[in-house]
Amino acid sequence: MTTRWTPATWRAKPAKHMPTDYPDMGAVDRVEQTLRQMPPLVFAGEARRLKSLLGDVAEGRAFLLQGGDCAESFKEFHADNIRDTFRLILQMAVVLTFAGGKPVVKVGRIAGQFAKPRSEPIETVDGVTLPSYRGDIINGMDFNEAERLPDPDRLLKAYGQSAATLNLLRAFASGGYADLYNIHRWTLGFVGDSPQGARYRELSEKISEALTFMSAVGVTPDTQPDLKRVEFFTSHEALLLGFEEAMTRVDSTSGDWYDTSAHLLWIGERTRQLDGAHIEFMKGVKNPIGLKCGPTMEGDDLLRLIDVLNPNNEPGRLTLYGRFGSDKIADRLPRLMKATKSAGRSVVWATDPMHGNTLKASTGYKTRPFDRILSEVKSFVEIAQAEGVHPGGVHLEMTGQNVTECLGGARAVSETDLADRYHTHCDPRLNGEQALELAFLVAEKLKAARDDQRRLAAG
Ligand code: PEP
Ligand code: CO
Repeated sequence: MTTRWTPATWRAKPAKHMPTDYPDMGAVDRVEQTLRQMPPLVFAGEARRLKSLLGDVAEGRAFLLQGGDCAESFKEFHADNIRDTFRLILQMAVVLTFAGGKPVVKVGRIAGQFAKPRSEPIETVDGVTLPSYRGDIINGMDFNEAERLPDPDRLLKAYGQSAATLNLLRAFASGGYADLYNIHRWTLGFVGDSPQGARYRELSEKISEALTFMSAVGVTPDTQPDLKRVEFFTSHEALLLGFEEAMTRVDSTSGDWYDTSAHLLWIGERTRQLDGAHIEFMKGVKNPIGLKCGPTMEGDDLLRLIDVLNPNNEPGRLTLYGRFGSDKIADRLPRLMKATKSAGRSVVWATDPMHGNTLKASTGYKTRPFDRILSEVKSFVEIAQAEGVHPGGVHLEMTGQNVTECLGGARAVSETDLADRYHTHCDPRLNGEQALELAFLVAEKLKAARDDQRRLAAG
């Protein structure tokens, strides 16, 4: 007999990567109780809207762009940081929309992306061993005993920061900041300054021409207010299930359960055990959800997970993010795409070119080479084409700030540069210029794929 799903049934299953060392578990219960009384961060109707847009992605009519910090932090919380990430996503989306000839669905890793799975539960520095940092929603990054102790009050602080972040994002999305003409003007500034600007000029000039034409025929933000607005969605890894459970509510319209902490939630590579707590929780919420697919996943594993996570084969319900590494994708991805395709499963196939391309620089910093990230995205597009699958989107760790965390790019960040502005609380992010460059280079690739398809269709 199977028990009926509730937001709490995950508690009877083995849960990986969740903190169990709170000094007072009763305090955690009390905080979760408080969170249950808090207003939802997003509405069920918005999550349904995103699911429907992702349904378009699954069917090849749209493209997904998802990105933001690896881990948001209390320290980097600032209106400018939120604005710059938002602006960067919009700039990248314009470039990708133009090249791909399809709408781009914009999803931030933001307003709730706090909890981190860690490969090692402890960390030793100069002979001192402490629990690892697990994200600001759990403990602190500074290397001392007090900071590394999990603190339930951090759950409330993360909720508050997510609410304030979302409030600002909603204002940016609808208050005039997202004007298409403005967005393109910022991009022209980037192209003018970039050492590789000549390479991006052709595409940006074509966008300028399209906008000039639109304005000449009277399609401007004044006549078409939609050009001043964007739809923007939030997402994070559903790792800390007590928090997610507390944010899960019955939607009065549909009677279904929605996790109101974000529009889209995903299951990480380390917590995708079929009988584990994370799969149990995620199968019952009706939000669009994601699943990371790493190098050890086989086609059968994937199909079993899909049976549980999307039993009715609803387009837009499930996004798969391949995260293999530029050296493994050609070996691992084709079999997974074959599995979903031959079994007739409707999914969004996207790529996370960050998590399989992390390495340690000789200076000790965790980093990622721009070229490997680009190479994994290009391979993803080629493999999808060869398998007859729509290359649905990219999932990136990035920031609008001028950090030095990933190697390479037009300004050639080197191993010795990493120390200059290495601010991430977890994994290395593309900086604003590297991310926009990546968008231009991926756009070239998508455009070539589109041209190929046209040629084939024309015979
Ligand atoms: C992440 O997206 O930050 C992450 C931990 O990814 P993965 O689960 O794919 O390792
Ligand atoms: Co990460």
